[in-house]
Amino acid sequence: MKIFIDTANIEEIKEANEFGLIDGVTTNPSLIMKASKGGKSFKAIATEILREVNGPVSLEVVAEKAEDMVEQALKLHALGSNAVIKIPMTLQGLKAMKILKEKEIKVNTTLIFNAIQALLAAKNGAAFVSPFVGRLDDIGEDGMAIIDQIKTEYTNYGYKTEVLVASIRNPVHVLRAALMGADAVTIPYDVIKKLAMHPKTDEGLNRFLDDWKKVSPDGSLPL
Ligand code: E4P
Repeated sequence: MKIFIDTANIEEIKEANEFGLIDGVTTNPSLIMKASKGGKSFKAIATEILREVNGPVSLEVVAEKAEDMVEQALKLHALGSNAVIKIPMTLQGLKAMKILKEKEIKVNTTLIFNAIQALLAAKNGAAFVSPFVGRLDDIGEDGMAIIDQIKTEYTNYGYKTEVLVASIRNPVHVLRAALMGADAVTIPYDVIKKLAMHPKTDEGLNRFLDDWKKVSPDGSLPL
């Protein structure tokens, strides 16, 4: 399963990249807004991320009409060959997706909240769909249930669109995504760090290191 980091913060991206876990990045206008608080321009933020990561970087259009989305998509794509264009799941978005598919520009269809929307995006050639599971949980639904449905649809019809589970809030979302065979997950940095943690790991490590000091008082490995 591919792991993407869901942020536009370059420091978080660099740190996470050092762990060797990051296959790509997803951003959205709200994440860009947070990252631009220090005064950095959108273009500077996007270009830096595209250079830092050796994998797809999703950058989102901020238009509502198909022709404006396509115009913005072409500009975003010109920033780097690994740019994937996030298009919202609307009728105008579907129209834009069709045009971008003809131009061989990869699309990540965003703001997917049910499996029918995901079916339409795949039909129009999206490279990725982003179902927002956490936001469904927020309104009392089981967000992960739609991942299973989307996987079934794509298997039934042989769609190659990758299911990129988004709006992830905790490690259980990641576990369920992996068990359902999701192609990718996009995760905030604080949740990525939690994935590696377990209190019994910390307890076990502390005990080993304490015992080792009884062998080697300065804690070194005397070889
Ligand atoms: C996906 O690509 C979005 O950037 C993101 O996962 C949204 O998550 P949120 O619901 O936590 O804002």
